[in-house]
Amino acid sequence: MRLALFASGSGSNVQAIIDAVQAGKLNVELVALFCDQAGARVIERAEQAGIDTLVLAPQDCPSRQAWEEAIVAFLKERKVELIVLAGFMRILGEPLLEAYPEAIVNIHPSLLPAFPGRQGIQDAYEAGVAETGVTIHWVDAGIDTGEIIVQEKVRIEADWSLDDLAQAIHQVEHRLYPATLQEIIEERRED
Ligand code: GRF
Repeated sequence: MRLALFASGSGSNVQAIIDAVQAGKLNVELVALFCDQAGARVIERAEQAGIDTLVLAPQDCPSRQAWEEAIVAFLKERKVELIVLAGFMRILGEPLLEAYPEAIVNIHPSLLPAFPGRQGIQDAYEAGVAETGVTIHWVDAGIDTGEIIVQEKVRIEADWSLDDLAQAIHQVEHRLYPATLQEIIEERRED
């Protein structure tokens, strides 16, 4: 299975996926990284792993449509079969969704449908809920709305700071994302 990673920032989830592939726990080929933020740390991580990278911001294209078409062309050239969003901070539009139906996965740091959007960890912490967690889901045109594949709960202990919660969430993400991707590709092989 030929997989592309999309990310905008630090890329700790991308790193967890790269590490799982290198350890033989995730049987995919990482053939592309797409990043919309020049200078993002994730670009170095992909370079170190020898993954072909495209960095392109929508503002550098004549239109949003042209931006997505350029991404689709990059992916098609590399025969990508599955897109994995890992801290990718933009909503996808028609060109990508139509080119990759039921083939785009996202990870979100809350128990969706609770706390969608950019600050899922902080929003849960500030709401004072007893538990939050991680959701992995298929991507549709909404914001964190697609069909849920798996969720894992994280209990928020009374003495935790926001940073403690963020660390606990990221630990779950780094284990759950590679393991779930492996399950997805095994299921697809059986189809
Ligand atoms: C993760 O918490 C992920 O759930 C969210 O964005 C964060 C990305 O972190 N969508 P990183 O770039 O993988 O370190």
